[in-house]
Amino acid sequence: MRLTLADGVEIECRVSGPARGTPVLFVHGFPLNGEMWRDAALALSDRALCIVPDLRGFGMSRTGSARGVTIATYADDCVGVLDALGQTRPAVFVGLSMGGIILFELYRRHAPRVRALVLCNTRANAESEEGKRAREDRARLAEDKGDEGVRATADAMLPQVLAPEASAKVRERVLTMMRRTPPAGLAAGARALASRADSWPTLESIRVPTLYVAGDRDQITPPDLLRQMHEKTPGSRLRVIAGAGHLPPVETPAVFAETLREFLDALA
Ligand code: MLT
Repeated sequence: MRLTLADGVEIECRVSGPARGTPVLFVHGFPLNGEMWRDAALALSDRALCIVPDLRGFGMSRTGSARGVTIATYADDCVGVLDALGQTRPAVFVGLSMGGIILFELYRRHAPRVRALVLCNTRANAESEEGKRAREDRARLAEDKGDEGVRATADAMLPQVLAPEASAKVRERVLTMMRRTPPAGLAAGARALASRADSWPTLESIRVPTLYVAGDRDQITPPDLLRQMHEKTPGSRLRVIAGAGHLPPVETPAVFAETLREFLDALA
């Protein structure tokens, strides 16, 4: 369905499951879209109200004004999606990589809306100077070369995001998702990631049930990093999924969905 947020931007959002089920909002990584949560939402929609937006500028959502987009913009949009759906109950938020970075900001800004957090394959650090330069290069490539620039970024990222044993089908699916990102949306996302805050101090302030998920083959956010974040977050849990790289919901969908189901069951 299409939702229009307060500033007029149109967001594509998949909603499935019983209206009275626990609201679970899924936040995708960069440069991906809500399609990455397809299997998880399907597996859980017998018991949860699964809400899966494409963030502004990704997938089928409109970019709006790409100027001044920050991680806070995406965090506010996620809450805007709940508001547009009339969901005032605190939600479980599930975010992967950039999605997790957005959830740290969302927790800082909108803690009363958060019932629980699932932080997958993500990191709490601010970007390094070298990282900022690389992200600016990526943004300029997308702006200068359009879809060709997006394809170059997608092709370069693919081997980093998947475990070496990922099937040809998974590779094709992830590549298609990444290549679909509108150039202006990719540029805005790259710059938002470059300017993100240091979220390490936030971890010890988290007061909701929190699950960290890692992939034991993840080269971008390795399991040790997730373990350190888990150790800083009071009462949190950590699940390391064997055979998964940076994208467990796509690479090991059944194990990922089961992990999520167990966490949701424990909240009930
Ligand atoms: C993601 O999956 O969101 C990206 O890997 C984040 C990043 O580029 O650091």
